[in-house]
Amino acid sequence: MLRKGLVGLAAVAMLSSVAFAKDAKSGVERDGKTTFAQSCAVCHSVRNIPEVLVIGNKKDWAELLEEGQQFPSAHGWVGTRKMPRHGGDPKITLNEFISAVAFMANASGADPKWKEAPELDPEMYAKILEQIQLRYQRNDLYDKIGKKY
Ligand code: HEC
Repeated sequence: MLRKGLVGLAAVAMLSSVAFAKDAKSGVERDGKTTFAQSCAVCHSVRNIPEVLVIGNKKDWAELLEEGQQFPSAHGWVGTRKMPRHGGDPKITLNEFISAVAFMANASGADPKWKEAPELDPEMYAKILEQIQLRYQRNDLYDKIGKKY
């Protein structure tokens, strides 16, 4: 009886670790709306910080929408001025970040709409990666010469 119980327990433990491994492997990423709600809304839904770009405020977003998706996505990811790198979320993936920026941009007047990471054209994805690289290089250089950014 006891033995059967233990075998049963072991089987349950195995099953749950398999299920866990599968989840981790499939690496389910949050969409823009979910990421925004969980990681960005705390700052980007109200103007508690004067410089913040409030979601839905077309005036706040107009200039960034003009720049094109690669710039705010890359600069926000690296962090800029009062925007903490990765939005301050230590677990966020780049895809989730890109999707959250697209979600905010689309709610703030982007036309044509910006695509979330899974639907992003490879060309735009490459441009974002390039801008991230450039921004890190620039920051390194600024660090060396003691310039603020
Ligand atoms: C702690 C508050 C805070 C959180 C959390 C935060 N942001 Fe920001 N973000 C800011 C502020 C403030 C700015 C304006 C920066 C400035 O001009 O000083 C900003 C700017 C940005 C920009 C514009 C970057 C540029 O090119 O100028 C993007 C894009 C952005 N945030 C995306 C996000 C995303 C996506 C998230 C969630 C994953 C997020 N932010 C979470 C405070 C925050």
